[in-house]
Amino acid sequence: MSFFKWEKTYAFGIEAIDKDHQMLVMIINELYEAMESGNSKKILNDIVYRLTDYAKNHFRREEMILKSIAYHEYDSHKAEHNDFINQVVVFKQKLDSGEIAFSVEVARFLREWLKEHILSSDKKYVPEMKKFNVK
Ligand SMILES: [Fe+2]
Repeated sequence: MSFFKWEKTYAFGIEAIDKDHQMLVMIINELYEAMESGNSKKILNDIVYRLTDYAKNHFRREEMILKSIAYHEYDSHKAEHNDFINQVVVFKQKLDSGEIAFSVEVARFLREWLKEHILSSDKKYVPEMKKFNVK
């Protein structure tokens, strides 16, 4: 069983979004598995880098769609994205300085944040996107 199991409830039926979310789930699983099998810090850092990069691109894509449909909660939604990126940046700094070590807690934080964000914040825009025929 994977660490972060993709659930049907995460899928919105909007391909552009679902694909990105699936990819983020995959990278978080990859990080967890790399940690569990005791991979080097370099490998773990690379995965965190890829995750941050992909998350940034995904948020940008999502925000572009939300802006184009004049989503009423655009600002607060974008603020959540920014907050996540900031938290990951702090994580990375702490990992680099040795203040914290890679642990299940790190992977768990990423999983819980994404799960919560998809099921509460993202889910709210689904009817709006569908109204505008976003696929
Ligand atoms: Fe989002």
